[in-house]
Amino acid sequence: MTIRGNVQSPILVAGGAGFIGSTFVYLAAKAGRKLVVLDDLSTGHRGAVAAAEAVGDVRFVAGDVADGPLVEEIVAEYKIGAAVHFAARIEVGESVRDPAQFWDRNFVATLRFVDALRRAGVGRLVFSSTAAVYGIPAREPLDEAHPCAPVNPYGATKLAVEQMLASYDRAYQFRSARLRYFNAAGALPEAGLGERHDPETHLIPNVIAAALGQGGPLSVFGDDFPTRDGTCVRDYVHVADLADAHLRALDFLAERDESLTANLGTGNGATVREVIEAAAAVTGKPVPYAICGRREGDPPTLVAASGHARAALGWTPQRSDLTTIVEDAYRFFVARNTP
Ligand code: UFG
Repeated sequence: MTIRGNVQSPILVAGGAGFIGSTFVYLAAKAGRKLVVLDDLSTGHRGAVAAAEAVGDVRFVAGDVADGPLVEEIVAEYKIGAAVHFAARIEVGESVRDPAQFWDRNFVATLRFVDALRRAGVGRLVFSSTAAVYGIPAREPLDEAHPCAPVNPYGATKLAVEQMLASYDRAYQFRSARLRYFNAAGALPEAGLGERHDPETHLIPNVIAAALGQGGPLSVFGDDFPTRDGTCVRDYVHVADLADAHLRALDFLAERDESLTANLGTGNGATVREVIEAAAAVTGKPVPYAICGRREGDPPTLVAASGHARAALGWTPQRSDLTTIVEDAYRFFVARNTP
């Protein structure tokens, strides 16, 4: 069965009300794409889709991505040509404590979504995967050929979906782009979009909160790692650059009859201390912090080899330098906390 579609046909976005999903929906709508967002609002925010609705052709459906008949109905009604899947649980520590919901939402629900797409004749999907599929790096920077041995259920569920998609590719010619994000960060303050996790565990929003005197000093999880200043190195990538890569991946799938697995990172790492310094410079305030014990499962360094995404998608991060990331996150934080 040939299940290619028109590149301009509407895109179904599962989890389009979350941090990365809503940024993608906004930028895709601005670029003239027609979109249908499917989100159960369990962690996303209905208001995060409003900015996109104001600039483009965007529909919102409140519902469960695992609801196969609903997905098939949406595909038929809106003549969906491709899908992007963001809907997932994301917090690594929580996945260790409560793997059941991660397997249910990140694997079972995703399988149901993907299979409903297949049954409905949609054969192109961009899937949010993660650097957590690699586990502890044996060599750096991490390229896509690095063995995948996740060390937490979060990474395991994402890898399981990647493997499911690879088998769908072979058996059903269901083409997918599996995009392995490194550390998604930044915000789109001009659209009122940014990170609103509850509780917030990510470094950059926590550093900004600490600089602004909210929630006490930042806990730095370990300063005895084998890195240039003892704190962990991560490859922070701006959410707008991630969104851009998804648009490019959709075009890749429409133009080429093949699947793709690609890292989304910049190839540059920053330490926790460097993030603290960047936040102090951006906010003009010192960041109070306390060195604490290591957080379980934190590898010392996670930096992407980003050549594959650059070559296959023509993707070049535009807003992923640390200062821009922290500035955008700060502007969003201030706007959100100003009555
Ligand atoms: N950190 C602190 N204090 C904090 C929060 C984080 O010191 O309050 C440190 C962490 O120990 C880590 C670094 O800052 O060294 C970044 O931590 P984040 O929680 O912001 O991000 P992670 O690197 O743990 O995880 C992120 C995503 C995961 C994904 C992973 C893949 O949240 O979903 O990147 O690289 F799997």
